[in-house]
Amino acid sequence: MIIAIDGPAGSGKSTTAKLAAQRLGVVHLDTGAMYRAITLKSLREGIRADDTLSLEKLVARTKIAFSGSPPGMRVWMDGEDITDAVRSDEVTKHVSDYCAPRVVRRAMVGQQRALARATDVVCEGRDIGTVVFPDADLKFFIVASVEERARRRQKDFEKMGVRKGLEELCDEIAERDRKDSTRRNSPLRKADDAEEIDTTEMTIEEQVGHIVDRARARGYAPRP
Ligand code: DC
Repeated sequence: MIIAIDGPAGSGKSTTAKLAAQRLGVVHLDTGAMYRAITLKSLREGIRADDTLSLEKLVARTKIAFSGSPPGMRVWMDGEDITDAVRSDEVTKHVSDYCAPRVVRRAMVGQQRALARATDVVCEGRDIGTVVFPDADLKFFIVASVEERARRRQKDFEKMGVRKGLEELCDEIAERDRKDSTRRNSPLRKADDAEEIDTTEMTIEEQVGHIVDRARARGYAPRP
């Protein structure tokens, strides 16, 4: 079974996908982490997002892998644990630029399809229901107001000991939404057959419960 979860940054998509995968006993495929890995490596190597040739070579010589299962899942790049590094402010600021080029998307989508071929997944991202798995068994599009998403992000930063103003966060989120939904390659868009869930006033438990219920209604039984 493939469950596709798309939506903008901070919509609660990642936490929901993680917990739903855990409940259903399937793999959680965090495709954003893959684009973040490419961004991290490009920044380290000083490769610009518009340098298509260098990016294409970088993607070809980069090995991204996941280990463990939620909540202890780790992201690896070329044998290095980059779970925390890909969440840095620096990577977050630049990822919209590095995830856009066609050479990056083509390679990542290929890897995502290969990963899901062998196993049941809850796959989250921006183009999962539209491009990566248009035939997914279940598709969800998770949204929330910009203000609510900024508040959630502020809490995440507080946990990391970083203080950021709500206004600055609203601006950053709105800018990332704009870039993600207006880019030429695979823009953020709700698939016609996806169910939209507005999480502005929902708890995580309600969001997860909704998806798990839908999967069970489709006859998906969690592995013992
Ligand atoms: O979900 P996230 O914040 O970790 O995603 C990081 C960036 O990657 C975000 O700017 C959108 C992009 N992304 C994408 O273009 N396609 C995906 N399938 C997943 C993420």
